[in-house]
Amino acid sequence: MKLAVLALSLATVISIPAHASEDLAKANGCTACHQLDKKVIGPAYGQVSACYATKDAKKLAENKAKLVKHVIDGGAGVFGQIPMPAHPQLKDGAKNAELVKIIDWIMKDVKATECPKEFKPK
Ligand code: HEC
Repeated sequence: MKLAVLALSLATVISIPAHASEDLAKANGCTACHQLDKKVIGPAYGQVSACYATKDAKKLAENKAKLVKHVIDGGAGVFGQIPMPAHPQLKDGAKNAELVKIIDWIMKDVKATECPKEFKPK
């Protein structure tokens, strides 16, 4: 019985990596300003995914690196004039790895919606 429960919980952990990344976004306070499919204060992650999507693997890697940097540095002007605060606590180590996971999740698992017309890539 115990074994069955353990096997079940292991299976759950292994089969939901996307949720794990969503939890990371929550744990790091991102969801206060970002939802998946609706613009709140920041753009919807579906919009971010749509704006930075590309079939070119090299370009996609560059886009993701740029997004990681933008979240750390903060700033405004890409999706309008509301600024994102800087996140210096995500610059190094394990916290930086969490941010990389969140960005990977946005680009891979969040369903792309539409790129808004005010989008101005930096
Ligand atoms: C206080 C609100 C707020 C919080 C908290 C916040 N963001 Fe943002 N985010 C914004 C706003 C506003 C923008 C649009 C900035 C712009 O137009 O340049 C943005 C933009 C972005 C972008 C797109 C950047 C680009 O260059 O296109 C990503 C990706 C992103 N946020 C991820 C995150 C992640 C991950 C976290 C948590 C670690 C987070 N945000 C926390 C408000 C926030």
